[in-house]
Amino acid sequence: MTDLHARPWWERGTIYQIYPRSFQDSDGDGVGDLAGIERRLDYLVDLGIDAIWISPIFPSPMADFGYDVADYCDIEPMFGDLAAFDRLLTAVHARGLKLLLDFVPNHTSDQHLWFRESRASRDNPKRDWYIWRDAKPDGGPPNNWISDFGGSAWEWDAATGQYYLHAFLKEQPDLNWRNPEVREAMANVLRFWLDRGVDGFRIDVLWHIVKDAAFPDNPLNPDWTPAINARDEVFQTYSTDQPEAHAISADMRALADSYGERVLIGEIFLPNEAHARWFGTPERPQVHLPFNFQLIETAWNVAKLRQVIADYEASIPAFGWPNWVIGSHDAPRIAARIGEAQARVATMLLLTLRGTPTLYQGDELGIGQVAIPHDRMRDPQYFRQPGVDVGRDRSRTPMPWDASANAGFSTGEPWLPLNDDWPTRNVAVQGADAGSMLTLTRDLLALRRAHDALSVGSITLVESEDDVLSYLRQHEEEQLLIVLNLSSSDHAYRVPDGYDVETVLASTKAPRAIDSRIAADEGLVLRLKRTA
Ligand code: NOJ
Ligand code: MG
Repeated sequence: MTDLHARPWWERGTIYQIYPRSFQDSDGDGVGDLAGIERRLDYLVDLGIDAIWISPIFPSPMADFGYDVADYCDIEPMFGDLAAFDRLLTAVHARGLKLLLDFVPNHTSDQHLWFRESRASRDNPKRDWYIWRDAKPDGGPPNNWISDFGGSAWEWDAATGQYYLHAFLKEQPDLNWRNPEVREAMANVLRFWLDRGVDGFRIDVLWHIVKDAAFPDNPLNPDWTPAINARDEVFQTYSTDQPEAHAISADMRALADSYGERVLIGEIFLPNEAHARWFGTPERPQVHLPFNFQLIETAWNVAKLRQVIADYEASIPAFGWPNWVIGSHDAPRIAARIGEAQARVATMLLLTLRGTPTLYQGDELGIGQVAIPHDRMRDPQYFRQPGVDVGRDRSRTPMPWDASANAGFSTGEPWLPLNDDWPTRNVAVQGADAGSMLTLTRDLLALRRAHDALSVGSITLVESEDDVLSYLRQHEEEQLLIVLNLSSSDHAYRVPDGYDVETVLASTKAPRAIDSRIAADEGLVLRLKRTA
């Protein structure tokens, strides 16, 4: 019998992503901050999550809204200072929650002192901390690598006559992780925050950190057209997922483990087999949770989702643990993508699958499409690829807390507009409404906590009618059947042989009695009993 209590919190628990610029402002500058997060912790306790991961809060020129770090061991003044951080961490722990920071190892800001030194001269001791290469004989960039935000990944530096590599903006030069001094400096960054008491890290674009030493051209993607993301013009064969990066990831894990129970979550986009390698091996483990973004990327239909669940489950090594993500500051809002009725079903899916769920702020309110006028857009990705639908601002709008001015987010003008329906779609209104998305999310989180079958049980897909996604979660004597109707008509569903439905534990619609049919856009959690 498994000892459930031996299961670490990151396997049983739910992670909640806070985008700090947009969670809660405390000083009226229209941008969220650490004191704001602290003020809203009780909301998160009520919601029923276990850990918060906060997107970067370090000093930053904000070219990529914090993912361009100018100093890894301090707090951006807009967000607060180290004392405010310590207060927040104490308050988080006092509530029994965990706090994860966002570690951005692939690149720094071009304003980081390391880069300013590196670009100062070719013989600066920090020159090799970044990736500098000569021009091709024709003066062009060293190879065909493309920035994830469009354009060449190489920027010419006239002063020193070389190109430097940037997988993202030119304001985000890539560090050279083959240099042992870089590795040591970054290990010290992890130690700095672990010593302060953080419970772990989400690691930004972990699979990017090492590049092929020969810098060959990446293969061209024959299916690419200018209408899709510029990033996809080439396959990132030589610029990502190198063997040396796995060794570094294992070193990061060893460092985290030396602090006791700390978790590492890697941001990694790869097909299952390559993705699962980031768990490492039992002898030399890597990240605890390689983020699994497949619910974001998969078409919303039963056949595709069944395949994704089956294939992903099959790829997890015996010592590994699955996880699921359905929204983030980079992806379109789930309710914008599939509509509000199905977003409720999606929440049930996320919170009943086997594996740690990550919930993105605002998805618990079902925030959908937000219309942001061009002149209020802020995301560099939007401006760098005109006409391609890659802007991320629509998922980064401020949390609507109540019906007061600026939705209670700020006394000043918010840095991005609110969702248009904020006077009714906000925490205060939904918290008082038994039928709201917020109440559903809270109820499902409580259910997940109360039922080991949901948090740690096994999962088995169940054949059902078309449009109905169904699976069993089982632990010891308890059998729960999850039935999700992805269509707008009602359906019959199948109960596995030898079982009857005992109780309806949850519905995405109003509370209801047992029925052999599932309503349109409904999701159900059913407790089964053996037939007599
Ligand atoms: C992934 C982050 O989630 C995204 O917001 C950022 O732009 C890139 N990494 C670069 O750091
Ligand atoms: Mg503020």
